Amino acid sequence: MYIDDIQQAIDRCPRQHLLHLPTPLQPLDRLRRQIGGPRIWIKRDDLTGLAFGGNKSRYLEFTLAEALAQGADAVVLSAVVHSNHCRQFAAAAARLGLQAVVVLREDDSAMGRTDPITGNYLLNRLFGARIRLAPAADINAVVAEEMDRLRAAGRRPFTGLSAVLSRVAYIQCSLELSVQCQAQDIRPAAIVIGSGTNSLAGLLAGFALLDTDVTFVGTPQSHLQDPAHAAQHVVRAAMEAIEHLDLRCPAPPQVAQVRVDDSFVGTGFGHLDPPTRDSIHLLARTEGLLVDPAYTGKAFHALLDGVRRGLWPDDGDVLFVHTGGTPALFTYGADLLAANGA
Ligand SMILES: Cc1ncc(COP(=O)(O)O)c(C=O)c1O
Repeated sequence: MYIDDIQQAIDRCPRQHLLHLPTPLQPLDRLRRQIGGPRIWIKRDDLTGLAFGGNKSRYLEFTLAEALAQGADAVVLSAVVHSNHCRQFAAAAARLGLQAVVVLREDDSAMGRTDPITGNYLLNRLFGARIRLAPAADINAVVAEEMDRLRAAGRRPFTGLSAVLSRVAYIQCSLELSVQCQAQDIRPAAIVIGSGTNSLAGLLAGFALLDTDVTFVGTPQSHLQDPAHAAQHVVRAAMEAIEHLDLRCPAPPQVAQVRVDDSFVGTGFGHLDPPTRDSIHLLARTEGLLVDPAYTGKAFHALLDGVRRGLWPDDGDVLFVHTGGTPALFTYGADLLAANGA
């Protein structure tokens, strides 16, 4: 399909423009000189422009537009304490004049800690979100309680932000990538992204619509419950996004194009392991760029691992999609420096 036709289908979705797009695509030449292998490019979705950026900003343009179209004046979201999603949500809500409520879950990683007040937790508070903390088992009950409280106060609250729109948002990202790759004569052998579901599925859908054959490596933040069917799940999610836009693919996305690899999770969500820490240091010291311990650092470890194992031809290109998450770095403090002589 032509880019313009796909863009027109996306443009039919309600949208509040909050971001600075397209985000840059830049080469990691100093890193390549150090580690060898293919040319490596980084798509800077940490620079989407809203509150330190990130992948969730893209879909908030669509899903909050739907909330506004339904007459909402308040929005409720739940996630882990240092959720990047909640931070971008609270910022977008502030920009759109919506009251944001975030229900935050503590866990056993730095991503689940409220003390000290730093990172995304601090930012949520700066954006004026109402914050509720709750144990995992009570999250749904607290969300329901907050919805009731808002209704009783005469507000029109909205929850249940749309997953399919986060894939549509990454179809948009694939259109940007396609233009950028053409302009710089890049033919990606693989695209690596720190996502096991929505952003990954959106990219897969976008490149299928564009009839461009690429393989994808997606790293989820937690261990997969059904690894044997993870790629199938992503293909199904991609098809749902294509159907949402009422488009048809020249050739539908294939399971063989997708590897969802949870071997970089380490001991669990938000746990910083030595190879992830080394990957964060290597990128910081060769390129002056930051990735985070929970999502993009683990995905970047996957990319480095692929280069070291010679998975991609040396005369080709590999693309890394930086999905953001950098404010979470501050929650890890000295753990980021341990054992690296930093
Ligand atoms: C920085 C970052 N990268 C990636 C993801 C995963 O995104 P997706 O839900 O599209 O898999 C998240 C989710 O919150 C995130 O915060």
